[in-house]
Amino acid sequence: MQFNQKHLLGLEDLTEGQITQILDTADNFKEVLGRKIKKVPALRGVTIANVFYEPSTRTKMSFELAEKRLSADIINFSKATSSVKKGETLRDTLENIKAMKVDIVVMRHESSGAHRFASEFLDCSIVNAGDGQHAHPTQGLLDMMTLRERWGTLRGKKVTIIGDIMHSRVARSNIWGLTKMGVEVTVCGPPTMMPVEVAKLGEGGVKLEYDLRKAISGADAINILRIQLERQKSKLFPSMREYFEVFGVSCDVLKSAPEGCLVLHPGPMNRGVEIAQEVADGDQSVILPQVANGVAVRMAVLFLIAGGTVEGDELN
Ligand code: CP
Repeated sequence: MQFNQKHLLGLEDLTEGQITQILDTADNFKEVLGRKIKKVPALRGVTIANVFYEPSTRTKMSFELAEKRLSADIINFSKATSSVKKGETLRDTLENIKAMKVDIVVMRHESSGAHRFASEFLDCSIVNAGDGQHAHPTQGLLDMMTLRERWGTLRGKKVTIIGDIMHSRVARSNIWGLTKMGVEVTVCGPPTMMPVEVAKLGEGGVKLEYDLRKAISGADAINILRIQLERQKSKLFPSMREYFEVFGVSCDVLKSAPEGCLVLHPGPMNRGVEIAQEVADGDQSVILPQVANGVAVRMAVLFLIAGGTVEGDELN
């Protein structure tokens, strides 16, 4: 079955069927990643540019690894070592990449909407690796993959997203993806970090609960967000210590959630601020499985965007 999407800009653009197709394809690629030879020729001859205007550890490395596992040709751009330092604009940089006949641009940019802007003049596919506060669709997908492989299905489950919702593209992509897949989403965090009309986000909306223990009391999983200090124009909470006191997830707080409640965090973590050391490394944590699934999900997205189908023989 064809994927029928040229770009991946945000999960709001996808149907439940398309999200399921990505997750099913990622499961196939996870099997490939378990083989002795973890590489398939699926994207041989396809050129991918990784264009990163913001720092990244997980997303950049896992996209690059995914591309290598699919046998694509890769070029890398990092703002810090580029001619952006000499004043080159986003449009000019992307026009240069276009002139080099790239097939897919994977981009992270600090401005919300940068990818939609790029899609108006680039003729290649664009995959959003994070744009400002707007979206981080592959993070949302890898979070869903991690939950689905533990639960078998997402429909009917309850997920609570905790922390700096306002500045978080991860929160928005999780809300869009999870609500489309039939998950009941609750958001919890300081009122100063809650977007206006947050309850209307996603498909069918989300629940809002300011009391952390109440917010997690029925949760099958909690997704704990980093406080995005780099995006905050003014001080939105008194101190890190007080944040941890009220919204930090400690072992004691986690006891308010049902037994077996899974703990996610997109990284990078501020240990001792939004999450206690013992919770991050505890039995309920699926934080490193999230990272592992990031490679399979990004392989699936690139493969489907490039026109691949799992019915073909590309995985052999
Ligand atoms: N989760 C995430 O996007 O991490 P990086 O910023 O390290 O890519």
